[in-house]
Amino acid sequence: MSKTSHWFKSLIASFYWLVYHGRWRVKDVFDDLYGGQQRSETFRRIFREVFGDEYAEEADPTGFLTMTDLRNIAERLRMGKDQALVDLACGLGGAGFWVARETGSRLTGIDISSTAIEKANQRIPDFGLEGRADFRVGDFAATGLPEASFDGAMSVDSLFLVPDKTGSVHETARVLRSGARFVVITWELEAAGAVKDYRPLLENAGFEIESYDETLGWESRQRAVYERILAEEAALINEMGETTARVWVRDARAEMPRLPHMRRVLVAARKI
Ligand SMILES: C[S@@+](CC[C@H](N)C(=O)[O-])C[C@H]1O[C@@H](n2cnc3c(N)ncnc32)[C@H](O)[C@@H]1O
Repeated sequence: MSKTSHWFKSLIASFYWLVYHGRWRVKDVFDDLYGGQQRSETFRRIFREVFGDEYAEEADPTGFLTMTDLRNIAERLRMGKDQALVDLACGLGGAGFWVARETGSRLTGIDISSTAIEKANQRIPDFGLEGRADFRVGDFAATGLPEASFDGAMSVDSLFLVPDKTGSVHETARVLRSGARFVVITWELEAAGAVKDYRPLLENAGFEIESYDETLGWESRQRAVYERILAEEAALINEMGETTARVWVRDARAEMPRLPHMRRVLVAARKI
């Protein structure tokens, strides 16, 4: 085979690998989301009105994180000062920042979107974590982080959309020290490619489940946010830019009918 044809075949194989594993699409969607003006006054008002005291405004999440979630993550990680925490699929880093500051830990964030990682690195001074936080592009299932190098791992509102969930949970176990906790918030869903119960997945990767709870009030909050996003589509497009606003609008339309079949859970698991 000539060098050119070998190169061309490798290119096609990579293309199919990326599309087949859903990596390309997810990365593109999130680069679109993070590329524009991700936040707008209308967007913040929607969350303020729906979440009330539960709105984690300082963390500024790309999802449905609450103040109660943040406190539960910090508590269930059981981390000591100056220990190493990794936030997997961290987005703009807000949840990890809040928990690292609360627990006194050092933070590493990993996300597939280079746009998110660039913006997360810019937010480090906002949380006073200069020299104690860094963010890198990486896949949940292949972080590139050293083995047994973390005392805690967290992930918020992300594992459900990662194509290789088994690989991602094994990778989390690989980077954790024995006895360290993985605290994850994700959605259960009974459908092809989705997970109905995360416990067997975690146990097969070498974790012992410490708690497994539905996050209270998630469904009504999520539905109310989606309804308002659809009602205020024009204002959101005007303030966020078409590309970014459309990601939220598409998400609202696609997810709303699925909400009765989903459950948002917070899981704390200990690496054996
Ligand atoms: C709903 S957002 C949540 C972000 C953040 N955890 C938060 O709560 O603000 C989901 C994140 O998962 C990231 N993501 C999706 N697939 C990924 C993968 N395979 N590896 C790493 N990150 C991924 C996206 O880029 C996005 O930032």
